[in-house]
Amino acid sequence: MSALPGPTESPILQTARWVARPIRFLEDCRRRYGDVFSVMFQGFGTPLVMVSRPDVIRALYGERRHLLPPGRKVTLAPLVGARSLLLLEGEEHMSRRKLMSPPFHGERMRTYEAVMRDAAARELANWPVGRAFPVHPSMQAITLDVIMRAVFGVQDRERLRPLLRDLLAGTTSMGLQVSVMFGRRGPLERLGEMAHEIDELLLAEIARRRRGGGGEDICSLLVGARFDDGTGMDDREIRDQLMTLLIAGHETTATGLAWSLDLLARHPAVMERARDGGEPYLRAVVSESLRLRPVVPLAGRRLVEDLGVDGVFLPAGTDVTPAIWLAHTRPQDYPDPYAFRPERFLDGAPPSFAWLPFGGGVRRCIGAAFAELEMRVVLDEVLSRFDVRAASRRPERVARRNVTFSPRHGTRVVVTRRHSSN
Ligand code: HEM
Repeated sequence: MSALPGPTESPILQTARWVARPIRFLEDCRRRYGDVFSVMFQGFGTPLVMVSRPDVIRALYGERRHLLPPGRKVTLAPLVGARSLLLLEGEEHMSRRKLMSPPFHGERMRTYEAVMRDAAARELANWPVGRAFPVHPSMQAITLDVIMRAVFGVQDRERLRPLLRDLLAGTTSMGLQVSVMFGRRGPLERLGEMAHEIDELLLAEIARRRRGGGGEDICSLLVGARFDDGTGMDDREIRDQLMTLLIAGHETTATGLAWSLDLLARHPAVMERARDGGEPYLRAVVSESLRLRPVVPLAGRRLVEDLGVDGVFLPAGTDVTPAIWLAHTRPQDYPDPYAFRPERFLDGAPPSFAWLPFGGGVRRCIGAAFAELEMRVVLDEVLSRFDVRAASRRPERVARRNVTFSPRHGTRVVVTRRHSSN
């Protein structure tokens, strides 16, 4: 491992740079060390190798037996539970993935579209016209509403909603991130206590469906789902999977939307085209936004086997992650990589494994199609009602929030109503 280039500062300093200015840290490493380098974060004891070449990423995600890197369980288990799809490995992971994927494909997606339009319309009715405000919280309200309705159906879930919102807000605080990085568990445990109250509500939903209540919602599908041997998931496990969907499905999509609006607000010609270009162009806007502002920066594995590709050799046991920001801004794969240009996605797909906002391989995001649909629908609802401009000419900086890269000031905009709006 020592043969790999990488920053030589102390782990504390590397961690501080990553937490405070993640993009500068990544770009700096690329400039100095190239497409494969090794960093050392405080509290981990072993290095993390960051890669951004598509051929290396293909090799990494192509091997389904690789394990999870050690940091993930520590950060996520208190929130989503140990049986979460995000934390399982091997056969256990594959069998759950098979049970949980159907609600996110095909026909079902159509029923979500109406829910998404409705949630967006209700939130947008409250937008202030003519004065600056941050859109990120508004996007969070929409995506929380959408995922709750998809998971639990149409019934009111007024107790659960504020609890989930506060839990999420708690996990994204800077104080918590720093304490976790430095090995303190206390704040995480406090969040775990908050999660207990949510537990009770989720277990009650599950119990209701066991008694035959519910309908076509995702919670009912999970209660009814069966493995190949005819057994199903027990209540505790379904609770973990529900938490996983509620948490993974809401903050990420809200952040993706906030970034899309930030980019559109600063590119009026693109915004105009997004209004009139129909679904293909909106798709391209979403793809390009997720490329230029990837929400999830790292999605790593611990190698169970050596990985060797064209001059790169990483032995079994190494922790390796794509540096998604760097993979998305390689000039070899994206000419003029820092330009916001949805057109580049109209003429065809990017090189494979050069676009990975949703990760890849057997752990690729199961909500990717859901998230992309939601982003298109919400953007469409926003653009049909409002003209959106950035509140300041200063670019929105990237801040690390929990496991995401998020707009530091929440994407502050000023909107005006369009004449044709309804
Ligand atoms: C823009 C929005 C989203 C982004 C950027 C995103 C990103 C990701 C990424 C990068 C992974 C892979 C992690 C890994 O490689 O280990 C992932 C996994 C996952 N995502 Fe998403 N996600 C989004 C929306 C959603 C939504 C809407 C849902 C559900 C409703 C969801 C549920 C999941 C689940 C359950 C996994 C775990 C998959 C597995 O381990 O097999 N995500 N997501």
